[in-house]
Amino acid sequence: MSKPKVFVTRKWPSSVEEKLNALYDVTLNTDDRPLTADEFKAALQNYDAVCPSVCDAFPADVLNAADKRCKILGNFGVGFNHIDIQAAKANNIVVTNTPGVLTESTADLAMTLLLMSARRGAEGDRQVRAGQWTGWCPTHMLSSDVTGTTLGLIGFGRIAIAMARKAHHGFGMKIIYFSPRAADQSVVDELKAERCATLPELLAAADYVSLHCPGSPETKHLINADSLELMKPSAHLINSARGDVVDSQALIDALRHHKIAGAGLDVYEGEPNINPGFLTLDNVTLLPHLGSATLSTRTAMGNRVLANLADFFGGKEPQDRVV
Ligand code: DGY
Repeated sequence: MSKPKVFVTRKWPSSVEEKLNALYDVTLNTDDRPLTADEFKAALQNYDAVCPSVCDAFPADVLNAADKRCKILGNFGVGFNHIDIQAAKANNIVVTNTPGVLTESTADLAMTLLLMSARRGAEGDRQVRAGQWTGWCPTHMLSSDVTGTTLGLIGFGRIAIAMARKAHHGFGMKIIYFSPRAADQSVVDELKAERCATLPELLAAADYVSLHCPGSPETKHLINADSLELMKPSAHLINSARGDVVDSQALIDALRHHKIAGAGLDVYEGEPNINPGFLTLDNVTLLPHLGSATLSTRTAMGNRVLANLADFFGGKEPQDRVV
């Protein structure tokens, strides 16, 4: 029997690519070039499985391509807002993701952003590199405390809870959250986490607001000029979730006019294109979507896609089936 044909849209850690090569008839993107919608359509027409990454858009127009061979999109990533799930379903294409394996590394990155924003880490690094540091002095680059302050989490899934653990047990932070569903009692007890009844309640009480909700039409611009107005002027906004959750221009205006103290961003509307307004500001830390970017996590994500493909081609329900 011939092996299933698998198309991988971007370069993966080599140990996973080697496993894929051994199991399937694989086409890899060896020069790691971002592909076009037409190339995605051709992949859907010519392969049994297509494995996109979180920045490859699969809207209805692509998924409705004629004469498709593809039966499964094995997504490399937990977020799947780049795939039109209804269109995938209508075209009988199974979609899987990679939950669980990137929880700790993404929460570590969210804490990194929080600490960098609070302590002006990126700004200090720029100052040293530019040869502008003139030496220690009592009022040089004063910043905000982290230990003992309040962390407000919007969304309280796996990554938010992992961040809350680091913040509470490591930095003595008080944990508050806003989420459609109440957390398990064991988590509430462990973290002394308090659920806010409304988003404004959380925004007004938190010293650090960290976003952990999925990207979706419902969460688009959840953080906008009105919500930023409710935050403390001393507060920081951290986004390691999805760029669309924040209205970039409203955030730039709030940072420029010091309506909030700072922001730490790993994700952007329309990334990798960044609103140039961010680049003019010292009170924003900008990272290039590094949330899950450790070698072991990216390898685990690839292995999780492999497990989903193995289930699917073995006639079993893939463990991470989204639709
Ligand atoms: C995901 O998996 O959704 C992350 O954004 C990748 O880092």
